Amino acid sequence: MKVLIVGGGGREHALVNALARSPQQPELLAAPGNPGIAQVAECFPVGVDDLDGLVALAAERHVDLVVVGPEAPLVGGLCDRLEAAGIRYFGPSAAAAQMEGSKAFAKEVMSSAGVPTANWAEVTSVDEGLEAIDGRYPTVIKFDGLAAGKGVVVAPDEATARAALAEMIEARRFGDGPVVIEDFLEGEELSLFAICDGERAVPMVSAQDYKRIFDGDEGPNTGGMGAYSPVPGAPDRDEIVRQIHQPVVDLLRERGTPFHGCLYAGLMLTAEGPMVIEFNARFGDPETQVVLPRLRSDLLETLMAATRPGGLASGGAMEFGDDWAVTVVEASAGYPASSRSGDVITGLEDAARAGAEVLHAGTARNDAGDVVTAGGRVLNVTALGPDPAAARDRAYAAADLIHFDGRQLRRDIALRAVERATP
Ligand code: AMP
Ligand code: GLY
Repeated sequence: MKVLIVGGGGREHALVNALARSPQQPELLAAPGNPGIAQVAECFPVGVDDLDGLVALAAERHVDLVVVGPEAPLVGGLCDRLEAAGIRYFGPSAAAAQMEGSKAFAKEVMSSAGVPTANWAEVTSVDEGLEAIDGRYPTVIKFDGLAAGKGVVVAPDEATARAALAEMIEARRFGDGPVVIEDFLEGEELSLFAICDGERAVPMVSAQDYKRIFDGDEGPNTGGMGAYSPVPGAPDRDEIVRQIHQPVVDLLRERGTPFHGCLYAGLMLTAEGPMVIEFNARFGDPETQVVLPRLRSDLLETLMAATRPGGLASGGAMEFGDDWAVTVVEASAGYPASSRSGDVITGLEDAARAGAEVLHAGTARNDAGDVVTAGGRVLNVTALGPDPAAARDRAYAAADLIHFDGRQLRRDIALRAVERATP
């Protein structure tokens, strides 16, 4: 069995490691991968946007399954091309990936399927936007299309809202496309992935990520500075999937665009129950880095079952351990405004020996063969434990064995879980 993983970040490293634990002992390939992934999989220098190159690689190497990590190739139609080439894949078609590719599309699906989400309006001018907001602040303004996590503004007042609308609509910061205005939701955030076979959505386990750069949720947004799983006090995951994921899967199937792959709901736990902030059509980063280490069953079997319509009814059942997982992100100097490349990283093996899973996110090798920084988020250090405090202590102890100039990390990842789980 040969599996090709598309992507080169911490999420893909976690996927590769989980697949390497499969009793089926698959041969693993990655494109483009990274120096960490290269220890487990054969890496090929094909970028995630080179759809023709990826299909050609999968065909030449007679790959049995392609697992797509990032959203851009999904929205761009990589799975449709693999389908046409007769190659099996885990991920949604471009049509189903619109759940992530277009906020207005996702909102319309949620409204039609009766999935709880904030009230919304689609607008195409600044004046129309301000009219839709109608003086209710804070409000949330979202660019319709993919914007690498930068297309959402929570506006506390009219001046901020006007500036955000002008930037998105008039200055076209993220390209052409409408903007969605939605009500501000209050509560705690929760991520829940469901594996979908076109007919059925099956939950993984809850996780929470930390989006801001500094402790105490201060400073600008990032791609995620850490995560933990499970989330104490979260509603039952089967119940969430029944209300949130399953109605979407049912509707997309009725419309002839069934969702196969990972449907990721970003939820706000409001006083009225869970409400959707956004859907993604893929595994989340860095939540995957805490969800997959808790999986005790064979990930490969689950992913293969999900490629067949209704396949999860007869195979691929998932089992999770009742341990806790914490991942701490180590970022490079300047992140998130910029990122510094080329800083030499030491201590990776010490951290692994300390019992952590050290995942590469933004690393490269220099001419001397050293592992160096090559991106904003450089490494994810994940540890498991019988309780949140043990997992957290282990993750930080290992993370602190790693050194590079300008290293940034938050010190409060999973502290919330420790405080809650302590009687
Ligand atoms: P997104 O890129 O859609 O995940 O949004 C980024 C962040 O903006 C989310 O993680 C939330 O913290 C915040 N956000 C988005 N939509 C809302 C909303 N309707 N109410 C409150 N916060 C929101
Ligand atoms: N954890 C946020 C994301 O993957 O979009």
